[in-house]
Amino acid sequence: MKQILLGITGGIAAYKSAELIRLLRKDNYEVRVVMTQSALQFMTKLTLQALSGNPVHSELLDAGQENSMGHINLARWADSLLIAPASAHCIAKLSYGLADDLLSTLYLAAECPVYLAPAMNQSMWHKAITQTNIDRLKQQGVHIIGPESGSQACGEYGLGRMSEPEAIANYLNAQHTPTPLKHKKILITAGPTREALDPVRYITNRSSGKMGYALATQAKLMGAEVILVSGPTQLPIPHGVHLVAVESAADMHTAVMQHIQGQDIMIAAAAVADYTPTSIATEKIKKEGTHTELSLRKTKDIVADVANLNNKPFTVGFAAETHNLQHYAQDKLARKKLDMIAANWVGQAEGGFDSAVNALQVYWPNGSQSLPLTDKTQLAKQLLILIAEIYHAKNTA
Ligand SMILES: Cc1cc2nc3c(=O)[nH]c(=O)nc-3n(C[C@H](O)[C@H](O)[C@H](O)COP(=O)(O)O)c2cc1C
Repeated sequence: MKQILLGITGGIAAYKSAELIRLLRKDNYEVRVVMTQSALQFMTKLTLQALSGNPVHSELLDAGQENSMGHINLARWADSLLIAPASAHCIAKLSYGLADDLLSTLYLAAECPVYLAPAMNQSMWHKAITQTNIDRLKQQGVHIIGPESGSQACGEYGLGRMSEPEAIANYLNAQHTPTPLKHKKILITAGPTREALDPVRYITNRSSGKMGYALATQAKLMGAEVILVSGPTQLPIPHGVHLVAVESAADMHTAVMQHIQGQDIMIAAAAVADYTPTSIATEKIKKEGTHTELSLRKTKDIVADVANLNNKPFTVGFAAETHNLQHYAQDKLARKKLDMIAANWVGQAEGGFDSAVNALQVYWPNGSQSLPLTDKTQLAKQLLILIAEIYHAKNTA
């Protein structure tokens, strides 16, 4: 387990540290928290103690410690020191080597990598002395995460917001994540498609896009250049990923074909409509009669068309089935000439469409592997590691 020391300083963004602790623990970090005196005005020790599962420290002179060397012990314990939020005041102290409280003393004593996520009013961030301090810390090897631009607690707008907890956790994970997909170009499709019936109605499915977005995020962290062709979803764009937003199955086909040249790997995680209305009414269809019928025609098969290209990328399909999973998945693998297929049950109590968790049964021409039920982030990591392994085996064969 990775051991992280989280320093929290006095700013409104301290409330985000609670979520950060939760995410870090989910990613298998043991978290110990150190708060400045100002931070104690913004968050209670009790909350952070409950979330981290460890006592929270704030005193440099702690007579309770057996050898009164708490700051050295904590510094030695940590694999990394993260300060989030890092106030302008704290950044200035660290840059000048001042050590008048537990956190700044810990920073001086620490020999592990140090990460700061600054958070402050945009004028404070742009002030020349703050920028000089940041540059000095960077030169000394401190990693600076963010800040981001946006509306601020003070009502102003600009650069200075702390990066979102998820982005901070992703940044840290990237430091520990193997990069088996370094410099590989990957195109991923995600989400549902919408097939219009008339100007206000469409046919769609229950896909949330979570699996495809998790794959895009993790592929990026593993060093890949990622294009994400996505149907309509409610999900934030993964950091550093090139998003191509589409609506219908036909739009998705066009976008994939436009971007596929030069891609090393294609992962088709989107739930693309198999059928689309034969025509789209130009005006809203009226409610007339007790029954009506829809006329549908087959859509183009995106993954099969990619697998049929002369210079085809390593092509991974998904199969979502409610019965005969293995049979349909292996049939689809062979029929569509895929390199790999990730099959999952849908319509079950747990996993599948719109769920945060899932399990996969993965098949390739001469092998298979089960990836048991877990959250989609972990599952995406495991699937990408497997894809990288089979891809590299195929390309060195
Ligand atoms: C309501 C409030 C919000 C504040 N927010 C920030 C902030 O976001 N960033 C910052 O650098 N300072 C902020 N400050 C100022 C710091 O709390 C102050 O500089 C303090 O000395 C920081 O101490 P520390 O770095 O030891 O935690 C804020 C102050 C108040 C009263």
